Amino acid sequence: MSCTIIVGGFFGDEGKGKVVAHIAHADEPVIISRGGVGPNAGHTVKVGEKEYGVRMVPSGFVYPKAKLCIGSGVLVNPKVLEDEVNRLGVRGRVFVDKRCGIITEDHIARDKGNDYLSKKIGSTGSGCGPANADRVMRISPQAKDVPELKEYLMDVPKAIDDALKDGKEVLLEGTQGFGISLYYGTYPFVTSKDTSASQIAADNGVGPTKIDDVIVVFKAYPTRVGEGPFSTEMTSEKSDAMGIQEFGTVTHRKRRIGGWDGDMARYSAMINGCTQAAITGIDRVDPDCYGISDYGKLTKKAKDFLKTAEDDIGCPITLISTGPELTQIIDIRKEYQ
Ligand code: IMP
Ligand code: MG
Repeated sequence: MSCTIIVGGFFGDEGKGKVVAHIAHADEPVIISRGGVGPNAGHTVKVGEKEYGVRMVPSGFVYPKAKLCIGSGVLVNPKVLEDEVNRLGVRGRVFVDKRCGIITEDHIARDKGNDYLSKKIGSTGSGCGPANADRVMRISPQAKDVPELKEYLMDVPKAIDDALKDGKEVLLEGTQGFGISLYYGTYPFVTSKDTSASQIAADNGVGPTKIDDVIVVFKAYPTRVGEGPFSTEMTSEKSDAMGIQEFGTVTHRKRRIGGWDGDMARYSAMINGCTQAAITGIDRVDPDCYGISDYGKLTKKAKDFLKTAEDDIGCPITLISTGPELTQIIDIRKEYQ
């Protein structure tokens, strides 16, 4: 049996979706289950020329053989889920834990209409903060109370446990990133829940002793959307001149861009219990590395960067993404087993 958690090490949007999709094709899990806050998350996965954005369905959906589950810790917006299931053609493969919290129109109105959340914190306006508040107050509906979700309902922890007992592979995917954890991030400029690996395990009802690997994904040039401190942030003139421009999957806001933050990487790896790290965007460190899938072909500049990053993180870097497409990745995990 093997259960792997994949989480973001910086402020979200590290490219977890792509890393999850790659690992899924390589390791053939029977279940890919997501934790994290809810539809405030946006993952982009590019396969060939096609780009897919997802907010509710696990980003591992591009691997066709796995069941796609949403753990009980996650907030579900039934309409966003239904639209995605139709758009991606994944009906029959998607399962929602019966205890998931539900986002209503009222939660979205309260998120968007609240100046503290929408302006000061820069929330995504997807209703997650107010929905988690109602959940804590024990007045929120659960997935099992929503008739439209009936076809999706499942006991996700039980399905995961059965798969692990059967000797199968399971992937647990996190959303958001370490820096916007309610507990460990840059409070109050954070999301409405912890985002570390322990939380992702809890979101899926998987006890800590059942986790074999925690892969923390770091971006060579971290980004942040919304407000809050960002110690290595560069001016947008500088990042524009470097050809780095990104826009949010959910809100389409322009992302703030920063340089590598070794101190944050180390602290994040510590709290996440990192066993292996993934680095995305190495083609931004040296454009000559774009699309490479063989470690030996990386340039000296890229290898020097990876050495520094590995020393900072304190764990081996076993996955290196060299471009947005699914196959543009170097996977040296086997060398560390
Ligand atoms: P909320 O989670 O919508 O309340 O937003 C709170 C803060 O977290 C804002 O700064 C958002 O931009 C940020 N945030 C929430 N989810 C994500 C995500 O998936 N990626 C990046 N930032 C996020
Ligand atoms: Mg995102």
